[in-house]
Amino acid sequence: MSDGRPAGVNDGRPAGVNDDRLGGHGMDRLRGLLRPGLEALHAYETPAAPAAIRLDANESPWPLPAEARARVQAALATLPLHRYPDPRATELRHALAAHTGTSPERLVLGVGSDEVIQILQTALARPRPGHARAVVMVPDPTFSMYGIIAQGQGLDVVRVPLDAHFQLDVAAFERAIALHRPNLIFLATPNNPTGNAFDVDSLTSIVRAAPDAVVVLDEAYGAFGGRPLAALADAHDNVVLLGTLSKIGLASLRVGWARVPSWLALELEKVRLTYNLPLPSQVVATLALGPLWPVFAGHVEAIVAERARFIAALRGIPGVHPLPTDANFVLCHVGERAPSLAAALHAGGIQVRAFGAGHPRLAQHLRFTVGTPAEDDALLGALARA
Ligand SMILES: Cc1ncc(COP(=O)(O)O)c(C=O)c1O
Repeated sequence: MSDGRPAGVNDGRPAGVNDDRLGGHGMDRLRGLLRPGLEALHAYETPAAPAAIRLDANESPWPLPAEARARVQAALATLPLHRYPDPRATELRHALAAHTGTSPERLVLGVGSDEVIQILQTALARPRPGHARAVVMVPDPTFSMYGIIAQGQGLDVVRVPLDAHFQLDVAAFERAIALHRPNLIFLATPNNPTGNAFDVDSLTSIVRAAPDAVVVLDEAYGAFGGRPLAALADAHDNVVLLGTLSKIGLASLRVGWARVPSWLALELEKVRLTYNLPLPSQVVATLALGPLWPVFAGHVEAIVAERARFIAALRGIPGVHPLPTDANFVLCHVGERAPSLAAALHAGGIQVRAFGAGHPRLAQHLRFTVGTPAEDDALLGALARA
């Protein structure tokens, strides 16, 4: 795996589950029903004992201040929890439309952008003539869920290596598009886990090279850097923009969205689960995009300022080489000690992201989320002592 999620290997069963009910043979008998390709996938495993300082998941380190918390509490206290939520998330939809400068009908909302990725891949899955399965194309390395969701849905994944500086190799993409004819291309900018934004000319070239594919530009980290992409989306009818509230301070709500052409929104709505977004998430997200927005904007500003200080300090530590970043995290080359360093940091109460041998281009790197100044100082001190 190559992204923001903990890598793990298990057989897909929660620890301690007793499946004796299946008579022991049930597993063998029923395994054959599993979708081809599922055996090769691994479920996520989160660390059994989360460390006190969590700099591994690209979350915001800042909780809500007391006044904002009181407003959220008041709003939650009166919710009709005995009713299903508004299936269209009407208020949130309007708030998001205003926030993203589009019309409400062009938004598809999901339980995090993860679910929106799944919705896109469920709907846009018709194999090209002569092919058994539809193709999803991604750069490598990038956010691993694009590939994991695609495999779970029985789609083929084609990975196009980024260049030596983790930038888009446009010529390689053009060749791969002509050869594999993808239905969907996912490009996160800024990219995870590399941190860099892709330049708009390269993105435009790829969009133009794939007029009969849907190109999803994932702006999960757009608040922290990179160029706004609305103009590119407006100029090309095959471009979809993906967004989330997870990285700016509301990861627990699981609110993500895609901004798509209206015709596609109607199709995607057919595969979206009717009551996917819980009412508490709808209500708190609407507050966040409205009266509470200055709180989140302030936190983003603080993270961007802290990022500069953090990177400068990382540069001063022997054996730690931070890569340029436009996101709320920094990928650092630390050499072969990456796994042992991550383990030592965890033992000392600091959780960071390591990538393991499964991804040769990242195996010598660690990814650090920008934390509070105190959290970052703790990490910097531990790195300097390591
Ligand atoms: C590039 C990118 N896109 C999307 C997501 C998913 O975000 P969420 O499902 O929390 O909205 C992540 C999370 O790490 C990410 O890194």
